[in-house]
Amino acid sequence: MKEIKIETKIEVISIEELSPLDAELMNKAVSAAKDAYAPYSGFHVGVALMLTNGKIIVGNNQENAAYPSGLCAERVALFTAGAQYPNIPVRDIAIAAIKDGEVRSHISPCGACRQVMFESENRGKVPMRILLCGNEEIQVISSARDLLPLAFTL
Ligand code: THU
Repeated sequence: MKEIKIETKIEVISIEELSPLDAELMNKAVSAAKDAYAPYSGFHVGVALMLTNGKIIVGNNQENAAYPSGLCAERVALFTAGAQYPNIPVRDIAIAAIKDGEVRSHISPCGACRQVMFESENRGKVPMRILLCGNEEIQVISSARDLLPLAFTL
């Protein structure tokens, strides 16, 4: 019998410990969350991506009365980056969520978004650093691969 163990390292830092660039990214994610269109769930998600060329792309969840037609913030942002800068890797992704007017702690992207983050990272050939923003702590994961072990590939 063979056993495979999968480990994920998550760095937990306080807002005060964020670098000025990471703080800017987090602020942009929170502000994108405020612009989300989420009348059905009331769960407003915002994302800010830093590309390797220094450009910042934002996205937020876009819901629809035909529920499955809506899209998560992560995919809105990553697909926008893919459309506008097809050859520029994503270096960092900051994700924030607001519910009932409060920035939520311990957020975590859904499986479909992890799959898209994974492929975007592979496509760019640069590890995508993930900042899961909370109102006190930020969880930092150094690669999209770490968020989706055993990801699907063709
Ligand atoms: N949502 C995101 O934007 N990102 C995720 O990773 C999970 C969920 C959105 C989808 C929907 O608009 C709302 O949050 C509630 O599920």
